[in-house]
Amino acid sequence: IEIKIEDRDGSTTTIEVPTDVNFSLMEILKASEYEILATCGGMALCATCHVEIKSGGENLAQPEDQELDMLDTLPDADDNSRLACQIHLTDQDHGLSIRLRGALQ
Ligand code: FES
Repeated sequence: IEIKIEDRDGSTTTIEVPTDVNFSLMEILKASEYEILATCGGMALCATCHVEIKSGGENLAQPEDQELDMLDTLPDADDNSRLACQIHLTDQDHGLSIRLRGALQ
């Protein structure tokens, strides 16, 4: 599938993502050399993998409590906020569009 990523400087790129592997969106973004600290290693504890779902997120699994609790601590989070480390893409997510919002320090 292809997903669209808006970086912090507003530049947008489209990347191809395999869905037959068990990587989180955070791991995919890091592997594609986007700047994401992911300090906690994907445990929903650092929120540096914060992304905004701009469109196409209808088929994503709903966030679990731990993710929601973490997002609650972010002053700039809103209803479209997710933690990329808690998202696993499927074939249904083709065309997903996100914006990177995680802190860089
Ligand atoms: Fe730390 Fe996602 S990598 S919350």
